[in-house]
Amino acid sequence: MTPPRSGRSRLTALMARGAEFLGTDVAILAGAMSWVSERNLVAAISNAGGFGVIACGAMTPALLDAEIAGTKALTTRPFGVNLITMHPDLMELIDICGRHGVGHVVLAGGLPPAGSLERIKATGAKLICFAPALALAKKLIRSGVDALVIEGMEAGGHIGPVSTSVLAQEMLPEIARQLPVFVAGGIGRGEAIAAYLEMGAAGVQLGTRFVCATESIAHPNFKKAFIRASARDAIASVQIDPRLPVIPVRALKNASTELFTAKQREVAQALDEGRVAMAEAQLQIEHYWAGALRRAVIDGDVEHGSLMAGQSVGMVTKEEPVAEIIAALLEEAATALATRA
Ligand SMILES: Cc1cc2nc3c(=O)[nH]c(=O)nc-3n(C[C@H](O)[C@H](O)[C@H](O)COP(=O)(O)O)c2cc1C
Repeated sequence: MTPPRSGRSRLTALMARGAEFLGTDVAILAGAMSWVSERNLVAAISNAGGFGVIACGAMTPALLDAEIAGTKALTTRPFGVNLITMHPDLMELIDICGRHGVGHVVLAGGLPPAGSLERIKATGAKLICFAPALALAKKLIRSGVDALVIEGMEAGGHIGPVSTSVLAQEMLPEIARQLPVFVAGGIGRGEAIAAYLEMGAAGVQLGTRFVCATESIAHPNFKKAFIRASARDAIASVQIDPRLPVIPVRALKNASTELFTAKQREVAQALDEGRVAMAEAQLQIEHYWAGALRRAVIDGDVEHGSLMAGQSVGMVTKEEPVAEIIAALLEEAATALATRA
């Protein structure tokens, strides 16, 4: 069903600020997903009018350099790069983004480390950060970030403790007038996009919904697991040792769920015996996830690898081109807006 024109124009108006900030047709960001968000998916999203983001993850500076160059060969549209704050070569990675003239850098994994914000802004790029709570959002705004993502616990990958609907209610009325805010976590259809835009969001960020895009290089087994799964299969990891705070990860339940418990026991014991310090223990946990995700996304080992996925996985029903996913989301959003008008 084609939505009435009023729905389309209302959607365009609601997305205008976010689209202008991103330099895109529509204010839909594809959240960076380690191993999945490489040149093919990123370029496909930007070419379809959205905003693709390269997941740098644990890439070396040379690999990021090549990935940005590869993406530029596939699209002339804007795209961003997601950097993890605890990467040991963070400053070098920022310089590489600067050399390529990357317009937007997304910093994930906590507050920007000393000097990183200034360094990113000095390249001319806009800085997007994650704000997991209102107090932190205000602090980030004071420090000069250009936009924020608020991501609820329905999301795939590393998650905070609060749901998207609550974060949106708590944060949008307070901060959405000050800078563009993109809402993420659990968005699978356009009706939800329309709702968050009407609440004041400048746009949205989706990850899970794009994993099974035709252009995504994720292994066919990984995609099949997504297509089969329902919302309740995407569960958050459990922390087993109070002394070892681990950030929960949402993924489809499989044998690796138990392997993670064993890994935590092993690292907690090393911590007890003084064989590793806390920072090293946490880094070991992060390396574990990166390796496990690679095993599933690239090698297709969907039993022992990590199947990071959000609760919206139940709304992923087939493999389809990015352009069709974005078109469906826009149509659902426009129809919803027309109906509610
Ligand atoms: C397989 C997978 C890998 C992810 N890897 C990263 C990552 O490397 N860095 C990051 O900031 N977010 C990562 N995320 C989170 C996404 O960027 C995005 O914010 C999230 O998927 C949005 O919620 P949704 O899954 O409910 O759409 C990942 C998510 C998934 C599903």
